[in-house]
Order: sequence, then structure tokens, then C-alpha cells
Amino acid sequence: MTWDLTPDQYAIQATARALATEVIEPRAAEVDATEEYPWDNVAALQEAGFTGMTVPTELGGPGHSFLDAVLVVEEMAKVCGVTGRIAVEANMGAISAILAYGTDAQRKLAADLVLSGDKPAICITEPEAGSAASEMTTRADRRGDSYVLNGTKHWITGGGVSRLHLIFARVYDEHGVEEGIGGFIAIRDETPGLRFVRREPTMGLRGIPEMEIAFEDMEIGPDMVVLPPSGFRRGFADLMNAYNSQRVGAGTVALGLATGAYERAVEFSKEREQFGRPIAEFQGLHWMLADMSVQLEAARSLTYRAAASRGPDGSPFPDPAMAARAKIFTAEASIKVVSDALQVFGAAGYSRRNPLERMYRDVRMFTIGGGTAQILRTVVAGRVLEMKLPQRRDGFLR
Ligand code: FAD
Ligand code: COA
Repeated sequence: MTWDLTPDQYAIQATARALATEVIEPRAAEVDATEEYPWDNVAALQEAGFTGMTVPTELGGPGHSFLDAVLVVEEMAKVCGVTGRIAVEANMGAISAILAYGTDAQRKLAADLVLSGDKPAICITEPEAGSAASEMTTRADRRGDSYVLNGTKHWITGGGVSRLHLIFARVYDEHGVEEGIGGFIAIRDETPGLRFVRREPTMGLRGIPEMEIAFEDMEIGPDMVVLPPSGFRRGFADLMNAYNSQRVGAGTVALGLATGAYERAVEFSKEREQFGRPIAEFQGLHWMLADMSVQLEAARSLTYRAAASRGPDGSPFPDPAMAARAKIFTAEASIKVVSDALQVFGAAGYSRRNPLERMYRDVRMFTIGGGTAQILRTVVAGRVLEMKLPQRRDGFLR
């Protein structure tokens, strides 16, 4: 497996970089300050062909590789974490699961939405089921051909602005017997019973709503049920496997933020003078900048390698631990790199006039959302030890 970039990929990267610096960067501070979803950035991404990038040509998409999409996410996040996250969810996560497991009609519906600029929401986490996602209690009760959903999800990125919502729910047959976990598609403004309860005030990434969502007798017809390949019984494993794409995407946003912060710190160190010399001449800073560049190169290698391991869209990750490794390392390294970049700026880095302050708040999320760094280590450990490592008190090493 290789992730050497092709000439076409360098071209995508250059186009994305130009869009990021010319259009996205000038708006980034305002997006953070107003906390408003940047619809104009979404339109710019869509016009550039940067939403639905991996949608196959037979569904009207450009059929790009997953790594192509990762390159775009990285460029956006270098200047605006929120736009990086929009690029993730317009290309990965819910759309990956539907392209992988949906019916032809569901794949077409989801493809048309992302190609026209929608950033679907993926609804897994519940107030009492965060890391323990498999303990979700949102239920889908079978009524004839349809299902009736009841429950609450929270921390749903884009809730209220996304149109397509892919909801993970525990499925029960007509007799109330549990069948496993399935995916259910609800469309904002079209599916009655989809209720946006309240927005979470967040530390960073403020231009995109994090929403609590309730489902109240929400009826989902048979055409909107995503039945994973092995049925509901193995539905959780299948849906999480498709979700691995979003883990790589989340790591890429962190990588982009850290790269943007590092590049700003390098420039600043050459301009800022103390003791009659540019601060770049001090060995104390050489070692900091060198360490930052080592961390970023390692993070980029892991991220691109994980991205390149994924086949054409529709195929889940061959090794979930590879996505987990990439996200653990990249998120942790990026938090350190952004913190050190802010340090290079001294007090100027602590000012809200400086983008470093925003980037520092934004990057902090990535060891939490999308599977915490601790949980992802359990995924890697299970692979290393070739053991099933259930986390429940009564299930350890069973
Ligand atoms: P908890 O599970 O309560 O964990 C608390 C602490 O305990 C953590 O440090 C955790 O690592 C640790 N811990 C828990 N279990 C173990 C264990 N077995 N071993 C070791 N340590 C453990 N969810 C969605 O479904 N859709 C979204 O779009 C979405 N977007 C998000 C966006 C943001 C900005 C954030 C912050 C979260 C988002 N989430 C989303 C939710 C996210 O996936 C959860 O926050 C995450 O899975 C952790 O769950 P929790 O917050 O309930 O923490
Ligand atoms: N990719 C592929 N398969 C996965 C997977 C992934 N990311 N996560 C879980 N699975 C599979 C497991 O391999 C297991 O399959 P098996 O029965 O063949 O062994 C099955 O799903 C159940 O997983 P298990 O680890 O037994 O579940 P658990 O109840 O102990 O919970 C998780 C652990 C999976 C819930 C936890 O590791 C996790 O990922 N939590 C974070 C949730 C998250 O990322 N939320 C983000 C929302 S945006």
C-alpha cells in the first residue's frame, strides 16, 4: 500500500489550498465569533466539487478516492476548523455508511444531497451512551413495514442545519423482541417527529451546531431503513466499520489545524525580534519547531496511509485499528503542536486577535469526538492482543 501523491492529487491539493486561502480563511474569525453555520463556505465547497467527492460516477459523483477527500479536508482545516469538519461530513461518516450498505434509492438520495452541498449528520451518541455506544437506548419498534423511533441523541454535529440524519437505533420486532442495531434515515423538514431540542455551547468549532435531538414517535418507512449486510444482529459492527472513515477524517481536521498553526509559528519566528535578533535564531525555538515538524510528518504519514488503505467507496476499512491509530496519534500530536505554536507567539498568541487562540480551542476536541483517545486505544489493544476486550465489568476478557 502506498500513499505517494499522484500529479492529480497534487492538483486537487493546490485547488483546495487556493480556495482555502482566498475564500475560507478571511471568514474564519467571523464564523467563530458569530457561531453561525457558514452557508457561504458550504456553497464554495460544493461549487469546487469538494462535497460528495467519493460518490461514484454511476450516482452522478466524481468518484474520487478517499485520500483525495482527505487532502481537501486538510487544506480547509489549515485555515478554518469548522469548514474542515463540514468537508469531513460532506464526504465521510453517514454518507460512507449509506454508500456502503444502502439500497440503490438510498444511495441516490444521499449522493444527491451531498453533491448539492448537504453535510449529513451521524447520530450515535446518547446522554447515557457515549463511549459505550453499543448501549444506546433509542429504539426502533417495527409496525408493519415501518419503524417507529423514540429516544434522544446529543452532541450531534450539524443537527438543525444538516438535512440527512443517519440515526443508529436498537431494533425491536412487532413482539418487542430485540433484533440488533440498524441505521434509519430522517430528513430535516420532511420527517415528522425529528425534534431539535437544544444547542450545546462549545469551547471551539463554534460555527457548527452541536445539537441534542429527540425522536418522538418518528415513523421511518421501509425505504429509509439502512439494513447492514449481516442484518440487524451484526448491525452495530457493520455501521461502526463504515464510521471508521469519519475517524480518519476527524484526525485530518486536527492535522490541518496543527499544520496551519505550525506554518504561522515558523513565519512569526522569523519576523519577531528580541535581544536584537529574530527569535528564530534561538536554539530553544529550533528544537520546538523541529519537534513540531516531526510530529506533523508522522501524523500525516499515519493519516494518509490509513486513508489510502480504503478501497473504492462502498468498501469499509480493512483494518479498523489503522483508523484508530491514525486518529489517536494525530489528535494528540496536533493538540501539542497547536499549543507549542501558540507559545512561539508569546502574548500575541493568547490574544483573540490572533487565529492561534481559536485554533487552540478548536483542536482540543479531537481526542474526544469520534471515539475518545482512550476508547480508540482499546480498539488497537484488541487487535494487538488478538483478544476481544469487552469493557463491561462482567465481561472483561470473557
Ligand atoms: P464518556 O464515554 O462518558 O467518557 C468519559 C471519559 O471516560 C473519557 O475520557 C473516556 O475516554 C473515558 N472512558 C470511557 N470508557 C472508557 C473505557 N472503557 N476505557 C477507558 N476510558 C474510558 N456523537 C455523535 O453521535 N455524532 C456526532 O456528530 C458527534 N459530534 C461530536 C462533536 C463534538 C464537538 C464532541 C465533543 C462530541 C461529538 N460526539 C458526536 C460525541 C462523541 O462521540 C462522544 O463525546 C464520545 O464518544 C465520548 O462520549 P462521552 O462524551 O459521553 O464520554
Ligand atoms: N470498526 C469495525 N468494527 C467495529 C468497530 C469499528 N470501529 N467498533 C466495534 N466494532 C465491532 C467489534 O469488532 C465487535 O465485533 P465482534 O463481535 O465481531 O467482536 C462489535 O463491533 C461490538 O464491539 P465491541 O467492542 O464488542 O463493543 P463494546 O460494547 O465493547 O463497545 C465500542 C465498544 C465499539 C462501542 C467502543 O469501542 C466505541 O467505539 N466507542 C466510541 C463510540 C464512538 O466512536 N462514537 C462516535 C460518535 S460520532
